[in-house]
Amino acid sequence: MTPRRLHVITWGCQMNVYDSARMTDVLAPLGYAPTARPEDADMVILNTCHIRDRAAEKVFSELGRLRRLKVARAEQGGRMILAVAGCVAQAEGAEILARAPYVDVVLGPQSYHRLPELVARAARAAGAVIDTEFPVEAKFDFLPPPGHTGPTAFLTIQEGCDKFCSFCVVPYTRGAEASRPAAAVLAEARHLLARGAREITLLGQNVNAWAGAAPGGGTWRLADLLAALAALPGLLRLRYTTSHPRDMDDRLIAAHRDIPALMPFLHLPVQSGSDRVLATMNRRHSAADYLRLIERLRAARPDLALSSDFIVGHPGETAADFAATLALVRAVGFAQAYSFKYSPRPGTPAAAVPAQVSEAEKDARLAELQTLLRAQQAAFSAACVGRVLPVLFTGPGRHPGQIAGRSPALQPVHVGGPTHLIGAEAAVKITAAHPNSLSGTLVATPEKERACA
Ligand code: 5AD
Ligand code: SF4
Repeated sequence: MTPRRLHVITWGCQMNVYDSARMTDVLAPLGYAPTARPEDADMVILNTCHIRDRAAEKVFSELGRLRRLKVARAEQGGRMILAVAGCVAQAEGAEILARAPYVDVVLGPQSYHRLPELVARAARAAGAVIDTEFPVEAKFDFLPPPGHTGPTAFLTIQEGCDKFCSFCVVPYTRGAEASRPAAAVLAEARHLLARGAREITLLGQNVNAWAGAAPGGGTWRLADLLAALAALPGLLRLRYTTSHPRDMDDRLIAAHRDIPALMPFLHLPVQSGSDRVLATMNRRHSAADYLRLIERLRAARPDLALSSDFIVGHPGETAADFAATLALVRAVGFAQAYSFKYSPRPGTPAAAVPAQVSEAEKDARLAELQTLLRAQQAAFSAACVGRVLPVLFTGPGRHPGQIAGRSPALQPVHVGGPTHLIGAEAAVKITAAHPNSLSGTLVATPEKERACA
């Protein structure tokens, strides 16, 4: 087998990070080993994201750069295969081939298991090969198990979305909701744990809509899967992301009380605090529903740290609607959050609405919201100072003699300490809070305390 080199460029969410790793795994038997430099690569995959901004433009400008490398390689008598994967490929496959005819493979997120066949066809073909079907076979059945892992691992359990929020492309690029069977998830988790993972984050566009075949027949919901995963030897920490408020069922809320391995951190996008905007967004919940849900979650797990996504400037959003978003943020008190200017996505209902909010207004609202969210994050971090938190160490720190890890609420934590602690959880006394991280010192005896707030 000829050794070959593969360079993968990943944009977007954690699901794309997971998919890039799976594409690397599926190409390993063909002799492809990862390389950090595109100029050394025999194949370059762009794993793209379409959710916001000028995603397609970023892809075309990267392709322009890669084209020069491809031409240089051809002049030396070699060949570089260029593949575009992910949601831009799914949504704009035909346009990619029209504007960048030197691309060899275009494949959607449901076709990654067919990559070896597509690459073989591209190597033979004069033109490009394209695969953006939603095939009937389950791609996960055909993908090899993950090749390598660190102390923290991602595991995709669910893909696609049936919610059709007005602004979002996901239901179009990732297709309908589909859940992997529990047995397949448990097998992949055991494999990750055997290779040294201590924390597993379950991924899905709508992860708490997961409803998978149970090992003994019937259907499990996410609470059942979390309980089964928590019982696996070696597993220290569990997380799941991203959730929709409407799919937070009673048993999942109770799981936050009953499963100690389930970390006290939840990313629960609300998008807006205005009922009028939530209705036009087709979110199918009100601001009060969200606040009630947070109350119930905090009753189950009082130290639960909350994260969310917000969109400012959704079509029709008024100053009063935006004020309602600020009010909701004040009422909840988030440990961290992501906020975005609304960006029209072709083919989505919101993009066709005439009452678009001006860029200047979106900029002003985003700045105001981010100031408030940053202050809340700073307050949350400041409350951690002086406490002892269990930290799962994941790698070396920025400076020699430092190691870095994550708190239960996902904050990066830096301490002076020995590298043999990487992969282990240890108690850390937090001594300082920085804008995006904490620092502290190792303490000899772990204390019970788990989070700030
Ligand atoms: N414009 C801005 N933000 C968006 N998101 C999804 N679609 C858009 C869009 N068209 C945000 C939402 C979602 C997160 C992943 O990205 O807040 O929760
Ligand atoms: Fe997009 Fe999430 Fe809404 Fe689904 S629930 S349409 S993925 S924002």
